[in-house]
Amino acid sequence: MAITYIDCKDSQIKKIFKLDTPKSSYCIGIVDEEGIVGHLYYGEHINDINISALTPFTEAPFVPSKNNRDRGSIVDSIPVEYPTQGLGDYREICLGVESLKGYNAVGLTFASFDIVEGKNEIPGLPATFADKTEADTLILHCEDKVLGLKVDLIYTAFKKLDVITRSVRIINESEESIYLTRVLSACLDMKDRDFETVTLHGSWARERRIESQKLTHNSMIFGSKRGESSHQDNPFLMIKTASAFDEYGEVYGMNFVYSGNFMASAAKDQFDNVRVTMGIHPENFKWKLDKGEVFNAPEVVMVYSGEGTGHMTRTFHDLYRQNLIRSPYKNMPRPVLINNWEATYFDFDTDKLVSIAREASKCGIEMLVMDDGWFGNRFDDNRALGDWKVNEEKLKGGLKYLVDEVNKLGLKFGIWFEPEMISPDSDLYREHPDWAIAIPGRVPVRSRNQYVLDMSRPEVVEYTYKQVVDILQSANIEYVKWDMNRQLTDLGSYYLDSERMGELSHRYVLGVYSLQERLLQDFPNLLLENCSGGGGRFDPGMLYYSPQIWCSDDTDAIERLSIQEGTSLVYPLSSMGAHVSDCPNHIVGRNTPFETRGNVALFGTFGYELDVTRISEEDRNLIPSQVETYHKYNELVRSGDYYRIASLRENGHFDCFGVVSKDKGEALYIFVRGMAKANSRTDFIRLKGLQADKIYTVEGFEEKYTGDILSKVGIPVALRNGDFVSKLIHVIEA
Ligand code: GLA
Repeated sequence: MAITYIDCKDSQIKKIFKLDTPKSSYCIGIVDEEGIVGHLYYGEHINDINISALTPFTEAPFVPSKNNRDRGSIVDSIPVEYPTQGLGDYREICLGVESLKGYNAVGLTFASFDIVEGKNEIPGLPATFADKTEADTLILHCEDKVLGLKVDLIYTAFKKLDVITRSVRIINESEESIYLTRVLSACLDMKDRDFETVTLHGSWARERRIESQKLTHNSMIFGSKRGESSHQDNPFLMIKTASAFDEYGEVYGMNFVYSGNFMASAAKDQFDNVRVTMGIHPENFKWKLDKGEVFNAPEVVMVYSGEGTGHMTRTFHDLYRQNLIRSPYKNMPRPVLINNWEATYFDFDTDKLVSIAREASKCGIEMLVMDDGWFGNRFDDNRALGDWKVNEEKLKGGLKYLVDEVNKLGLKFGIWFEPEMISPDSDLYREHPDWAIAIPGRVPVRSRNQYVLDMSRPEVVEYTYKQVVDILQSANIEYVKWDMNRQLTDLGSYYLDSERMGELSHRYVLGVYSLQERLLQDFPNLLLENCSGGGGRFDPGMLYYSPQIWCSDDTDAIERLSIQEGTSLVYPLSSMGAHVSDCPNHIVGRNTPFETRGNVALFGTFGYELDVTRISEEDRNLIPSQVETYHKYNELVRSGDYYRIASLRENGHFDCFGVVSKDKGEALYIFVRGMAKANSRTDFIRLKGLQADKIYTVEGFEEKYTGDILSKVGIPVALRNGDFVSKLIHVIEA
């Protein structure tokens, strides 16, 4: 069992629960007769469970009271599992309510517990999964007797990975309704150890830049109020000791398995206790819980690493590849695709697409993806979203004809949708203006000239599903790119009544999840790629439905190094949509060697985003060998362990990272140099992740070397002159 517990005698702590993963432990204590659910420990694995005498549930250090059990000071300083509103804990809290009479107080006490093998699903929500050989689950049943509210705190400890997941279930057992005004999913209280926070911040076309800062007494709060997890802030927060780096030091990673509004916070309190929280953003959230109803909060994944950021990263990758992504494609090479977006934008027809497919097939490319512009009167991005009927002016002969032609050339066929949207200039909007998210009497804000469909409304979900399915059934379509190109504003629903209006943002996300779930149940072999104006919804929630997500609209190889570096801090390479595009790059205007563009995209899902009929012959001639290289290494890239070596973003000179097979028998590294420099030194890189006593052959070197030498001495990297040149370094056990 990964979970043990003891009853403690003659102690302030009455019960201790200990959750163990291979290298970490997490301890919860039930304090005093009143049953406060306290947090005792999270960190490196400990063997003993009896730590009751060492716990911090004493009087707070400075309180103007002679009573050494002054309640007010205690609740504002002790470490707890799930802090609540209005009863003296002035730090960030997880649970807030509003009773029908308007009171805002809630307190939790322990009632009972269950320990079960494996892990249960969270109804309607994405979550990691595990069978009983992989994990055990602890459910702490807590209650607020005054409100008649039951709150289950749910913890799963993974047996082979240093992962603990948390979620919360709230049940209204009272006779009257209550409003939930804040339901976060996890809290982590700890003593300060000179911590820093690391987050992934960005914008459209420059997603997930790694940012770090010192943790202070000023609350560090970030999140998304945009209706999606967003380009701007990813639902990931890492707390690390200041001395922690890639291979050493203590690191706590938290990632929210959710694709909508979220909030994360970290701060030191007046006694230097650290509190970290994560969950659904409380702004625009107010959930009416009627008598007998249940609210499930999404899951937070927590990873502890005592061996630096690298171990945390590899743990997230393993967890997501094995216990989150469900698609059968997760362990398969994805077809090398060519997408026509940057090739044609809206200006294409059947002949154009077939000509791209014909040329692509000669190069070994395996799938054509028809992007935006194939439906309604979608000649530009000002119209037609919602009108999912094939535009036969562009696609003469219809969709089936096109797909058959492409199939005849030996290519699979994929298609783009943006199912959650509605253009004001569309037949759908003219017929159902009340299906858009909007506040009556207020003209909604347009973004990319479109509105968002009200996914809280069952008939909208139903209609949208039917539209997508009709198209999928009309031809041999094997891949869908599911896009979402604007964020939410004007939060009003013509469907929800006033007392449920605060549920719109969360119900929107639940609607999207239900659509994708249905799609996968009905089309189990469909390869789904999520996307949101590039990487605006790159989160674990989406990975539950699609094995890959388009990483960014920025396909410039050098920008991609940063974007993919930040993304891979948490998410596996097998999930990162990455393509080779044309130069000068359409977003940043930079020229990079075709070879480098290929090498960088190899460390993602790999594909092309260019007009293969119009690029130079020299570049086109490189495609067959790139495709071959993809097939040679994709198994390793998809399943191996990821190691960061150097970041161009940080050092301004070169970038280097790699993947090492689980058995340490093979590795592939990429080295990319920045701008050319006159008379510069030869670079040395120390290859990480190899086994010290194994003997390896390094491509390009005649001698064989031990892993020990390769990781400590390193190897020189010789590259031709030029800007942004790169090289793959293949290492294999001799
Ligand atoms: C978004 C996507 C692009 C492309 C366009 C089409 O920006 O990220 O890849 O599909 O939409 O409108």
